[in-house]
Amino acid sequence: MIEEVPKMSFERVGMHSHIRGLGLDENGRARFIGDGMVGQVKAREAAGIAVRLIKRGKLAGKGILLVGPTGSGKTAIAMGIARELGEDVPFVQIAGSEIYSAEMKKTEFLKQALRRAIGVKISEERKVYEGAIEKIEIKKTRHPFNPYVEVPDSVLITLKTKDDEKTFRAGREIAYQILEQGIEEGDVIQIDAESGRVSKLGTTKEEEGIFLKRRVGLPTGPVLKIKEFTYTVTLHDLDIVNSRAGGILSLFFGGGMEINDEVRQRVDETVKGWVEEGKAVLVPGVLFIDECHMLDIEAFSFLARAMESELAPILILATNRGRTRIRGTDIEAPHGIPIDMLDRLLIINTEPYRKDEVREIVKIRAAEEGIEISDEAVEYLAELGEKTSLRYAVQLLAPAHVLAGGRVEREHIERAEEYFADIKRSIAFVEKLEGMLQ
Ligand SMILES: Nc1ncnc2c1ncn2[C@@H]1O[C@H](COP(=O)(O)OP(=O)(O)OP(=O)(O)O)[C@@H](O)[C@H]1O
Ligand SMILES: [Mg+2]
Repeated sequence: MIEEVPKMSFERVGMHSHIRGLGLDENGRARFIGDGMVGQVKAREAAGIAVRLIKRGKLAGKGILLVGPTGSGKTAIAMGIARELGEDVPFVQIAGSEIYSAEMKKTEFLKQALRRAIGVKISEERKVYEGAIEKIEIKKTRHPFNPYVEVPDSVLITLKTKDDEKTFRAGREIAYQILEQGIEEGDVIQIDAESGRVSKLGTTKEEEGIFLKRRVGLPTGPVLKIKEFTYTVTLHDLDIVNSRAGGILSLFFGGGMEINDEVRQRVDETVKGWVEEGKAVLVPGVLFIDECHMLDIEAFSFLARAMESELAPILILATNRGRTRIRGTDIEAPHGIPIDMLDRLLIINTEPYRKDEVREIVKIRAAEEGIEISDEAVEYLAELGEKTSLRYAVQLLAPAHVLAGGRVEREHIERAEEYFADIKRSIAFVEKLEGMLQ
């Protein structure tokens, strides 16, 4: 058995670490609390419908726009969508402002993000010997140049499954791998018939000690069999691997590298070939762009064009802006998004949280951050969150915890509130100063 290592207490707790899904029931209805999500019922249900559309491939070439005030859970819902889509579906998150980096052109950054969001599920059938080691004998011989050293020469292995047993002799390559991996009787192994690669799957033996191996059952079927292996990579992974062929240095400076469009074309063609031969399946994922009002007109038109292409991920955008200028122009548009892009987007609104929702979210966050807090303090934060913002209420937890040094009470939150301003108060403060100076 592999035992999970307990989380270390000093680990940085991510803002959205408590979100494990959208918290919907079988009928797609939101439970008030579920998967770490609280309230915001309509938006969560809408997101659930979007997930179903994505899984059925019905949202290809389109996107979702999450619109709502700051701290209303837009990013949280996007994370929930990611979790619902499952491990195999790539989910890439960027912020609109990230495209303005000094290292890369805007469009190059976006291209890479788009290609990281498309998975290629490769499956391969391979002939393998698989079974538990019943008996193993490594034959050693003298080193050809040094008679005092013994080296493995060959190995005699008996592999067993529930239904079969086979004894065979294998050469030096395999003997070496067996020694290196410390493989012994009772271990379940797989040997690739063509390449001779040995992999250890675990052991069938009951063990004691510190270095516990994974317990696995005795395999079934014949020892020599054809097995299907699948693994998922992204188009961007393939781009990187293929451009690395050019220069070994790129291996060490992986990030921030511009990729040649020719490489991308070659990768696309190869992948299409695999798909036609039935060796691979494309898994379009999601590109989530938070604070999308930071994108400029060039970025939007690039994205709109990219969404037309056959190999496009689903786009999820989020913003808290109403009518505003499209960056890079003097044109005002809803949410600062050009109309041709808006036309492709399903809009989901997130509403400001009510007190009962803030209360539950505060409790979840406190538990997630390992902070003990009194009921009165939770109640006070709930009121505060309704008046200012959820985000502010959640943010005060950590400083209040520092001030308390133990259980957080209402007074600690009041003190934290004096030290740290919410946005409205901070703006009012600056405006008052400006008024005094005029
Ligand atoms: N419905 C919810 N259930 C549980 N936690 C939530 C929910 N909504 C938000 N949160 C949590 O509250 C905090 C603020 O929410 P979030 O960052 O998602 O807001 P936002 O709408 O993206 O804000 P902004 O516009 O400032 O980016 C996060 O820690 C988030 O995980
Ligand atoms: Mg956000």
